[in-house]
Amino acid sequence: MESVAMAKELVKEFKGVRALDGLSLEVPSGITYGLLGPNGAGKTTLIRILVGIASPTAGEAIVLGRRPGSSGNAREIGYMTQLPALYQDLSVAENLEFFAKVFGLEKKGERKQRIDEVLELVEMTGKQDSLVSSLSGGMKQRVSLACSLVHAPKLIFLDEPTVGVDPSLRRAFWDHFKRLNSEGVTIIVSSHVMDEAERCDRLGLLRRGRLLIEGSLSEILSATSETKLEEAFLALERDGLDNEKAGLA
Ligand SMILES: Nc1ncnc2c1ncn2[C@@H]1O[C@H](COP(=O)(O)OP(=O)(O)OP(=O)(O)O)[C@@H](O)[C@H]1O
Ligand SMILES: [Mg+2]
Repeated sequence: MESVAMAKELVKEFKGVRALDGLSLEVPSGITYGLLGPNGAGKTTLIRILVGIASPTAGEAIVLGRRPGSSGNAREIGYMTQLPALYQDLSVAENLEFFAKVFGLEKKGERKQRIDEVLELVEMTGKQDSLVSSLSGGMKQRVSLACSLVHAPKLIFLDEPTVGVDPSLRRAFWDHFKRLNSEGVTIIVSSHVMDEAERCDRLGLLRRGRLLIEGSLSEILSATSETKLEEAFLALERDGLDNEKAGLA
């Protein structure tokens, strides 16, 4: 299968902190790939490098066949940050209009159609004229997701997209992600929520800036002889098992 994102021995150092420590990974096209790992494992740092807004200290990455940050990638990549990055003093619709324009939807009619579609998806149609500053935390999260999807990107990075989102809407988001996959869109998502992780086609567990283990849910369960993902991850932490030892390399 063609890979849409590839990282090779990425290292990212902040003053005194090695956020990524020789991380390699490859994400095939058209799937949902879940990045899991404890706080500080390096998930956000990896996403920021692949999106092209941070550069690695060493190593390389290729995303959609180009170096991250190439101008050709902007139109094709969607990115939802871990904390909503919205203009608080603009309305929901104005935020969407801004992101749609920045990401290259040139025709007004096309922008309007996409904005209506994503508003419906996140169930915010009646709130389009509300100022973002007046919304609840979960609603801001929904608008933030809508902004990352508005330009119909081919590759979407979602950094903990459902934090603070209620269960029924969370399920609707995941149904939508699966629909996007069936249209050939690739999603790379970080999460701490185990039932979400179980809906990913492939999972990568990060710890201390390294990819500890990678595979499908069933591969990871059988490698760890566990029946639940949460138990599998605790076992991995405990035993220091990695892909090679688990026979998944
Ligand atoms: N701009 C920065 N300056 C200094 N250190 C940073 C910076 N960004 C990240 N780090 C450090 O790099 C490490 C990895 O952080 P990162 O945000 O990538 O983790 P994460 O896996 O996304 O965690 P979380 O689950 O809490 O979101 C942490 O030790 C963090 O403190
Ligand atoms: Mg993070």
